[in-house]
Amino acid sequence: MSTPADFILQQALERIETLGAISDEPGRLTRTFLSPANRQAAATLMGWMQAAGMTVCHDRTGTIRGVLSGSENGPPLLLGSHFDTVIDAGRYDGALGLIVALAAIERLNAENFMLPMPVHVLGFSDEEGIRFHTTYLGSQGVCGEFDLKTLSATDKSGMTLANCLETEGWAEGASRIHYEAGSTCGYVEVHIEQGRVLESMDLPASVVTGICGQTRLAITLTGRTDHAGTTPMPLRRDALAGAAECFLELERTAAANVPLVATVGKISIEPGASNSVPGQTRFTIDLRHPDDAQRARFHAELHERCTGIAETRGLEIDWQVVQDQDAVHCDEALTARMAGALLAVTGTSTRLASGAGHDGVAMSRVAPIAMLFVRSRDGLSHHPDEFSSAEDIAIAIEVLVRFLKSFAIRS
Ligand code: HGY
Ligand code: MN
Ligand code: MN
Repeated sequence: MSTPADFILQQALERIETLGAISDEPGRLTRTFLSPANRQAAATLMGWMQAAGMTVCHDRTGTIRGVLSGSENGPPLLLGSHFDTVIDAGRYDGALGLIVALAAIERLNAENFMLPMPVHVLGFSDEEGIRFHTTYLGSQGVCGEFDLKTLSATDKSGMTLANCLETEGWAEGASRIHYEAGSTCGYVEVHIEQGRVLESMDLPASVVTGICGQTRLAITLTGRTDHAGTTPMPLRRDALAGAAECFLELERTAAANVPLVATVGKISIEPGASNSVPGQTRFTIDLRHPDDAQRARFHAELHERCTGIAETRGLEIDWQVVQDQDAVHCDEALTARMAGALLAVTGTSTRLASGAGHDGVAMSRVAPIAMLFVRSRDGLSHHPDEFSSAEDIAIAIEVLVRFLKSFAIRS
């Protein structure tokens, strides 16, 4: 006999597939800031929030919110995650957090269990920063105004974020969604681990100690375009060869200084003709280290080495810091509460640090944060084969239900 919990789990699994099919590109999942698919996913999630008895709204950046009333009208507990994706993404990164939050609320509704405080479910329209190479636009947007540097970030068409919000912002019927510091019980996010630790420990879930800092860089190397057939090697100022030497220096430095990780995820070449020596390359660098001082040290060292490589090759180098985000620690009390729920459901309460960034980084500016990680098969993420099992998702829902109910139990 199917119980309400079985129905709600099955519905959650179906919703992962439904959301995973809403894409800007045929044949693969890509959903970026304020794109048509981003707006469609927002509308779909708002429909599910309303069906769960929540009052919904959205803001100009495309962030959506569902509000579930509590028996008292005190500071709300915030649940959330993002519904934008990377390019050729998996179906679970971000989306799972929102679907598990909704499922937990539907479980409470099915038991007519009323919490003492309102619960706000926040769906952020941009965490990955694919369009503007920024991050956390959605969650930053509910914590305060964007700074000038963020507003002047440009997408590949050259449009600034400010202009995008002006012309493409979801203005019709928009509300302001904003939280002052100290105005909530906290922000809690369920998210896939995106790594291999839980699988190696054969655990379905863990709580999170903190979120790693990250530095995002935009580098331009400028040499001289030349004829590929008539330009002797010693006379070349080849911007791609210079970039390649920088990449190997990055890889060598990270390999020699674990747990530093350095990634070049995006590159463009001008003029991009097979018979022209590249005159210019633009590429990104993503630098991460659990220790902020170490990350800053390696950033300075790599800047110096890449500048040296450019000078030796007669190249100009432009080194732009797009984002420099320090590590964020999860709140001990909120995390202990989540660990208690995890222990009650699984008999374990493992704690992991997050190498991936999450909206909790932005939300920590206004609220204490906690996270629950769900196992990723083969540690895969930012990949179409990203997967979490129905059993692990059922555990995540049960843990979140118990976490929420713990607020109703008079201590
Ligand atoms: O880049 C990250 O760590 C996250 O997926 N945005
Ligand atoms: Mn991601
Ligand atoms: Mn994510």
